[in-house]
Amino acid sequence: MPKPPHRRRAHTRTRDLERYAGLFAERTRVMRSSAMRDLMAVTARPEVISLAGGLPDTSTFPPQTFAAQMTKIAQKSAAEALQYGPTEGFKETVDCILQVMGAEGMLPDPEDVIVTTGGQQAIDLICKTLVDPGDVVICEAPTYPGAVPVFCSYQADVVQIECDGDGMRIEELEPVLERLAGEDRRPKFVYSVPSFQNPAGVTMSLERRRRLVELARHHEVLVVEDNPYGLLRFSGDPLPPLYQLDGGDFVIYVGTFSKILSPGIRLGWAVAPPPVMEKIVLGKQAADLCTSTLTQHFVREYFAEGRWREYIESLVEIYRRRRDTMIEALREHFPAEATWTEPEGGLFIWATLPEYIDSGDLLAKALRDDVAFVPGQAAYVDDRGRNSMRLNFSGVGEDEIREGIRRIGKVVSEQVELYSALTGEHPVAPAPPKDEAGQADVLPFHRTGEGGA
Ligand SMILES: Cc1ncc(COP(=O)(O)O)c(C=O)c1O
Repeated sequence: MPKPPHRRRAHTRTRDLERYAGLFAERTRVMRSSAMRDLMAVTARPEVISLAGGLPDTSTFPPQTFAAQMTKIAQKSAAEALQYGPTEGFKETVDCILQVMGAEGMLPDPEDVIVTTGGQQAIDLICKTLVDPGDVVICEAPTYPGAVPVFCSYQADVVQIECDGDGMRIEELEPVLERLAGEDRRPKFVYSVPSFQNPAGVTMSLERRRRLVELARHHEVLVVEDNPYGLLRFSGDPLPPLYQLDGGDFVIYVGTFSKILSPGIRLGWAVAPPPVMEKIVLGKQAADLCTSTLTQHFVREYFAEGRWREYIESLVEIYRRRRDTMIEALREHFPAEATWTEPEGGLFIWATLPEYIDSGDLLAKALRDDVAFVPGQAAYVDDRGRNSMRLNFSGVGEDEIREGIRRIGKVVSEQVELYSALTGEHPVAPAPPKDEAGQADVLPFHRTGEGGA
């Protein structure tokens, strides 16, 4: 057997940064690393309990079903499944997408749909299509941490609008849109994850959804609705997606099979009005020609079985229990100074700590105790979010959730005690009274108003 080539140490010296520095495109100066991707490397150690990822629990997918689908593909359509496919995706994949969107009351024209390599690529292609350096993109504060590197790499001027327990504060968006109109700067789009938001877990109220769609029409501004979690609702009544309220004139929709089936298949989609879609297709041709035909076949076979909704129901049951477990553990192990959201669906809880705690520093300490979370700063383009953290409850079992929260609670409590010892003061009001179940009250996330927009 031939020997593998030997990597010489000297080689790395010739690969010093200076050698290439003059070649980098301007945009690389503002490119940011994805906090979750970086963390994945650390949390890969088996002893680490990771509450950091956004991972659905793929161990719940029956291996026999997976094997049966792949065998069917091999027997029925091996040549096509191994071949390039159309850039827009197969018609049969679009039929599956229409079923998923139909389950939330949406009825897009199949011609307006493109199959993408995950929802992540859809966000990238939308930016590629719409955003020039310096263009304004508006999003939530906090926003999906994976969108931040995309907005940055297209050199967008990102404006973040605060969220509270009812999602993006539309009453704060209105004056921003007015101001930008006055400056003759039309934002390229407003990006929102209205249902069970990543990272905050909050859901935009119906009033705010309606108002956002009205504002989009009034200002002729596009809204990008990113909705990976809409079908993962554990409690409360379903709310109409922005796409449904708008009818698809001003709302570009992004969906994915990642959280309702598998992220490994890398299948997502975008729905956009034809003139926008035409450009998105050109962008996709340049990026990767087409989305994996093999995994499109997998989805086709899986949906043909007709049990995809049952599987989602089973996920909802599992994640609901895990959410409840995490909330119980937070009540037990986090100090009274902390607050957190109580999501009605999705995969994430957002915890807010006293302002003097930096969750980046806290993560370093937590990792020493073999537990991880995403520091809140990853969800902001500026310096905000330092005293908050994203906690995922879908990726690990209930025992690990309890233990993980216990360990994080311990490092948070240490910081609170240290602060008290150093300053001689109790940092915030005394612990709220315990309720009947003996648990501390939980404050909603930045809820500063009821009802209204
Ligand atoms: C809001 C949001 N958008 C997009 C994505 C990307 O998902 P994928 O590319 O796997 O479809 C995620 C994944 O966590 C997400 O939470």
